[in-house]
Amino acid sequence: MRKNIVAGNWKMNNDLSETETLIRELKLQNKPADVEVMIAPSFTNLLQAFNTLKENPIEVVAQNMHFAESGAYTGEVSGPMLKSLGIKTVILGHSERRAYFGETDEMLAKKVDAALENEFRVIFCFGEELKDRKADNHETIVESQIKNALFHLDASALKNIVLAYEPVWAIGTGETASPEQAQEMHAFIRKTMADNYGTDVADGVSILYGGSVKPNNAKEIFSKPDVDGGLIGGASLNAEDFFAIANAF
Ligand code: G3P
Repeated sequence: MRKNIVAGNWKMNNDLSETETLIRELKLQNKPADVEVMIAPSFTNLLQAFNTLKENPIEVVAQNMHFAESGAYTGEVSGPMLKSLGIKTVILGHSERRAYFGETDEMLAKKVDAALENEFRVIFCFGEELKDRKADNHETIVESQIKNALFHLDASALKNIVLAYEPVWAIGTGETASPEQAQEMHAFIRKTMADNYGTDVADGVSILYGGSVKPNNAKEIFSKPDVDGGLIGGASLNAEDFFAIANAF
């Protein structure tokens, strides 16, 4: 179901005390009625965040999960473990997982399957590197990432999939994609989904943009017809900035 979504990916930031402080500040902000707002703290803070926000419309989501239900995977966290906390949404395929932890399209397809089997909604991340865009290869890369991890799914599964286009060259760099670049790629992504699943299904999928979204650029990016919101990194660590973005539709 296509919705406006703003999700804050805290990455590896905030200890328990800092999490409690930021959540206190987030709860004071004015939440837009027609936007789903989510935050993704680190695993160590998930339960505290979940319990603190139980009565609040801000959803607490996970930044990652392993594809196995359990087993000898030291340091990893499974879908059932996250489900036992009450978590209902998980981010998968973030470029930092791909770059630093060797996550491949094949591994991500297994993670997507495991997440859907555990009845999670998945925010699936993908995006090209600067060298791909400079070589005008960005659409081929994005199409391949989407196809390899998602196209084995039945159309019915897509109601639990949110797509997040994050050009790697825009993440954490301040080099935001222009609203026109974002719209061009989002339109291509939606066409890629439509070519495989049909227009009705593709039009029902939320496609988020991530990569240096800030209060001063969110409104123009979110105004584009195929942009349904954002996956926010740095700006999500400041309550006022994060909600300035959430209110930017
Ligand atoms: O997952 C969102 C993140 O990759 C974007 O980070 O700091 O560029 O907003 P940032």
